[in-house]
Amino acid sequence: MKLFDVYSLFDITPVKGEGCFIWDDQGNKYLDFYGGHAVISIGHSHPHYVERLTAQINKIGFYSNSVQNPMQHELATKLGELCELPDYHLFLCNSGAEANENALKLASFHTGRSKVVAFEKGFHGRTSGVVAATDNQALISPFNAHHEISILPFNDLEKVEEELRQRDVAAVIIEGIQGIGGIHVPDAAFLQELKKVCTKYGTVLVLDEIQSGYGRSGKFFAFQYADVQPDLITVAKGMGNGFPVGGVLIAPEFKAKKGLLGTTFGGNYLACAASLAVLEVMKAESLIDHSRLMGDYLLGNLKKLPTFKELRGVGLMLGIECHENISALRMHLLNENRIFTGVSGTNTIRLLPPMTLLQVHADYLLSSLQDAVNNT
Ligand SMILES: Cc1ncc(COP(=O)(O)O)c(C=O)c1O
Repeated sequence: MKLFDVYSLFDITPVKGEGCFIWDDQGNKYLDFYGGHAVISIGHSHPHYVERLTAQINKIGFYSNSVQNPMQHELATKLGELCELPDYHLFLCNSGAEANENALKLASFHTGRSKVVAFEKGFHGRTSGVVAATDNQALISPFNAHHEISILPFNDLEKVEEELRQRDVAAVIIEGIQGIGGIHVPDAAFLQELKKVCTKYGTVLVLDEIQSGYGRSGKFFAFQYADVQPDLITVAKGMGNGFPVGGVLIAPEFKAKKGLLGTTFGGNYLACAASLAVLEVMKAESLIDHSRLMGDYLLGNLKKLPTFKELRGVGLMLGIECHENISALRMHLLNENRIFTGVSGTNTIRLLPPMTLLQVHADYLLSSLQDAVNNT
């Protein structure tokens, strides 16, 4: 059997990771400003994470959700404390798309409605329901397109209210910061008003914090800059630092019913051990504040390099939009400077490094960017 060939691959085979670095099978060392697509939150192979997971697999790795699992309760409590939403409830699943599917389903059960509002350039996953809320035609099959989803302009409250006024919209789904769409931060005032109109028309507000959450933005959740309280919040990526885990944080007014949601693997012992280790390291190393400081440092210094069209983002979720296609620049960074970066569209470099990034790493990126700009 061969692999189903759906990914465009770099010609690199990582064999080792440590902190903010990965090594390939040729012995080359790369500074990881991509974080395996915003997944590596506390750094590669953090000793506490390795210890927690190793100890857990030596005890028990898996049993189904039909038995008591105190680790899930511990995770919910610690997560509620750190993100300052202790009254919310947690549903655990395995990935970002699954978290969003469950959030939309929950919104639909809660309201008895079926329609969903999403935003231009948004990305919420590739499974059937949420791919319809993703503004990228290349990913949507005719089957997916039949969901009742309206894609509206970003930051346009009037258009949202027009849609919600019919009182048939179950959920509005929006990213805390648009990631794949190019690092676009919703206006704080827009998010605040969005919450108000959702409440007014009985629509559930779903904040997709799968990429922007878990401290990356310099707050636990990016929406916390706007000081709003969403009804549902979805998480994944950084939550497990590479172990597949996702979740929905559910406001207290949502009533649970046996069998309403479910999954085989969600919240298994290894996923809980990984997620607990992430929270423990985030707290012990003050990584949320650190992300904000490092983000400010990077942005402040990027502004001194005059070559870019626009700089966007906050904390360690930054977009550098260039005037032209960035593929040569990105390949120069990779092959000459040994820095891995992410991308949005054709012109925007996306920076999503581990939150343990140090100033010396930021300085190396800044000098390398200057070098890459001069030589491409
Ligand atoms: C904002 C956002 N939502 C949802 C997803 C889907 O997550 P997953 O690939 O784990 O299904 C992603 C993945 O990149 C994402 O960035």
